[in-house]
Amino acid sequence: MTIRSLDARDAEPLASFLAALRPRDLLDRFHAPSRAAAEWLLGELTAFGDHGALVSVDDVGALVGLLDYAPCGEDAELGIVVVAARRRLGLGTALTAASLTLLAARGVRAARAFVRRDNRPALRILSRLRFARTGADEGVLTYVRRLAE
Ligand SMILES: CC(C)(COP(=O)(O)OP(=O)(O)OC[C@H]1O[C@@H](n2cnc3c(N)ncnc32)[C@H](O)[C@@H]1OP(=O)(O)O)[C@@H](O)C(=O)NCCC(=O)NCCS
Repeated sequence: MTIRSLDARDAEPLASFLAALRPRDLLDRFHAPSRAAAEWLLGELTAFGDHGALVSVDDVGALVGLLDYAPCGEDAELGIVVVAARRRLGLGTALTAASLTLLAARGVRAARAFVRRDNRPALRILSRLRFARTGADEGVLTYVRRLAE
């Protein structure tokens, strides 16, 4: 398994990855079971601008995990999805940890994540990586991890 930055060779696999997300994945990632949100993310990431991503690629080259980071002032907002067949293997934790290292090296002040209150796997990752809860809005919790002073 390899974690690396998203690049141009990933455009088609990324489109397939996002198109294959199930309604529950869409709800957990985007807080609405919306295919339009996945299409929006595809457009954002394949513009290869400030909204970037790390991917996890398996031994046969399949894209199995995606962590995207969107700049928001001096902070970045994180979103993460791992394919259902590869969950509970530590990929989500590894992708999130790698993003914190990358963003800290770029001088980003803090990473933020929005997670549904019932999303136990995501909450477990954030807790392990020392994110702090800073807010709640209609069942979606805000977590922040400071990266630099
Ligand atoms: C959240 C998500 C990325 C986690 O990916 P993952 O690769 O399974 O994550 P990890 O294996 O690193 O760790 C998940 C943790 O949650 C735990 N976990 C997994 N499923 C669980 C469940 N149903 N109930 C409770 N804990 C659970 C795992 O045991 C692990 O904790 P541990 O290391 O203490 O055992 C994945 O479930 C996913 O893609 N969900 C849909 C999108 C989403 O929810 N995104 C987050 C909001 S942006």
